[in-house]
Amino acid sequence: MKRILVTGGAGFIGSNFTRYMLQKYPDYEVVVYDKLTYAGNLDNLRDLANNPRYAFVQGDIADAESVDSVMQGHRIDTIVNFAAETHVDRSLLEPGSFIMTDVYGTYILLEAAKKYGVERYHQVSTDEVYGAVEEGASCETDPLETRSPYSASKAGGDLMVHAYYVSFGVPATITRGANNIGPYQYPEKVVPLFVTNAIDNLPLPVYGDGLQVRDYQYVLDHCEGIDVVLHRGVPGEIYNLGTGGGMRNIDMAHMILDLLDRPYSLIQHVQDRPGHDRRYCLNCAKVMALGWKPRHTCPEALEKTVRWYVENEWWWRKIKSGERWQTYYARNYAGRERRS
Ligand code: NAD
Ligand code: TYD
Repeated sequence: MKRILVTGGAGFIGSNFTRYMLQKYPDYEVVVYDKLTYAGNLDNLRDLANNPRYAFVQGDIADAESVDSVMQGHRIDTIVNFAAETHVDRSLLEPGSFIMTDVYGTYILLEAAKKYGVERYHQVSTDEVYGAVEEGASCETDPLETRSPYSASKAGGDLMVHAYYVSFGVPATITRGANNIGPYQYPEKVVPLFVTNAIDNLPLPVYGDGLQVRDYQYVLDHCEGIDVVLHRGVPGEIYNLGTGGGMRNIDMAHMILDLLDRPYSLIQHVQDRPGHDRRYCLNCAKVMALGWKPRHTCPEALEKTVRWYVENEWWWRKIKSGERWQTYYARNYAGRERRS
């Protein structure tokens, strides 16, 4: 395992993973393959630009010819697939691109994995495929109960990965991660949205009653877990990755406001997301048996994340001042102010 194709590596988790792998393994080469959608951003990889073991190729995972060319050109022996459309709210506005990338694109990558006989194909998936769990924690053997076009597309990708393992012997693993937070997360996701809005004294739009629970894990803990599964995980197996804890959205908003010394009056309860999953929680015993454990609790991850956004305005102001961002924000939030 020496030449890794990191698809979606210009996004949030993929860029953190690329940096982590280059630092940890001095003999590995990483090729980032990314379409550069609105979420892909070369600023996320800026510090790696001159690293001789890193290369960037712009391309779509759903484009078979382009995938074939990068596989051959860089003699890839491992694929780690982060490329996806990832935001639930956008999947409610425009589901088509989710199916194209998260399902069809996964199939194209699996075909390439089969053709080139890779040592490992790894699929980065999400806890959202289990659907909401009111109590307890989801295990890898639990049924998939997807409720949004995003989670349904991710589940479709997972099932295709399993099919290629069973039918064609592609040595594939899957991880299902809880919500990640940390450096370089596009500010459509709740934590960077709330932090950057709070810095600017703008309202924090809390969906519904804000009592939904998410397990906000630190992105580098997630990257470390993927690394462990890549090296010690068993092909054909699925591993959950999260802290096993969780936080209510309203408590997360309060903590951000406290850390930034902003008033709670910035919180604005707005119309809820349709089909909003109430709670996610993962049982991570299986990956822990491989020797992984998270280094941060949710509050520790949140504190570190807030600090990064305070210290890196150069990164997010560029995004939030752009027309593309403002169009999205207006589309998702206009007319949503329902409750006080
Ligand atoms: P992100 O939206 O920040 O980045 C996605 C990246 O994929 C972008 O760089 C984008 O340009 C690229 N991309 C999109 N479509 C593509 C295509 N067709 N071909 C090539 N590149 C394409 O996402 P993220 O938060 O970094 O998530 C990465 C992966 O981790 C996703 O598969 C997601 O489902 C999964 N995941 C995310 C979280 C989370 O909390 N963010 C949690 C669990 C799992
Ligand atoms: P999000 O970051 O979109 O991740 P996901 O829906 O994939 O878990 O949202 C996390 C939680 O925050 C979820 O319960 C929805 C909620 N949320 C808000 O309350 N307001 C917002 O503006 C956003 C984007 C999310």
